[in-house]
Amino acid sequence: MGPHPLWCVESLMELMTLEPGMRVLDLGCGAAVSSIFLAREYGVEVWAADLWTDPTENWERIRTWDIADRVHPIRAEARELPFAHGFFDAVVSIGAYHYFGTEARYLAYLLEYLKPQGAVGFVAPGLAYDPGSTLPPYLAERWTPDFFTWQTPDWWRNHWQRTELVNIAAAEMVPGGWDDWLQWLRACDLVDRGYAPDATMLEADQGELLGLVRVVAHCR
Ligand SMILES: C[S@@+](CC[C@H](N)C(=O)[O-])C[C@H]1O[C@@H](n2cnc3c(N)ncnc32)[C@H](O)[C@@H]1O
Repeated sequence: MGPHPLWCVESLMELMTLEPGMRVLDLGCGAAVSSIFLAREYGVEVWAADLWTDPTENWERIRTWDIADRVHPIRAEARELPFAHGFFDAVVSIGAYHYFGTEARYLAYLLEYLKPQGAVGFVAPGLAYDPGSTLPPYLAERWTPDFFTWQTPDWWRNHWQRTELVNIAAAEMVPGGWDDWLQWLRACDLVDRGYAPDATMLEADQGELLGLVRVVAHCR
């Protein structure tokens, strides 16, 4: 539902450093577009893990992009990861971390799969500020449980900082995130395929409250 995953992963890579040969977990990779991008652009090896997307479909896409030696599709539940502890140099997550990462213990769980100096970063829908109990009308009418995980950068900073397990490199709104999101809905004509309420909501917001959050941290 967010903007194109490549726009999001490019924005995340402004804040993360990946070196050739690193092992990267793309958590909630969807169609593995970001996984393919990371392998091709940075020479890393990527495990493209997702719960709802068929890994066979992703495998076809990965082979089409001629990157089968460095992108490995797998169906995985983020809370039951099928990997060895200490295996990854980095975890990235585009438009997915908020589905599982708001749980207080989740970061500690995820970090088990990272090497000691590993990095974790995500981009997800979020709010520029905490609206408290007075939601603007265009958000109030959409305020279902799916939205409860949209948090502010400060919320994420505090959520991760209190674990004392990471040093936070950034927790901020993605510059132009609201605009990217709306442009993507329009560009793909998704507005006619069930996304009209999202476009209407974003148009009403005018980038005041809604956008994308990006958060990056390194293991202590
Ligand atoms: C909005 S899509 C984003 C997909 C992709 N990263 C992108 O940007 O196009 C959210 C993805 O999160 C995945 N997801 C949600 N909950 C998950 C979980 N508990 N474990 C693994 N993946 C999960 C879904 O399968 C879905 O593909």
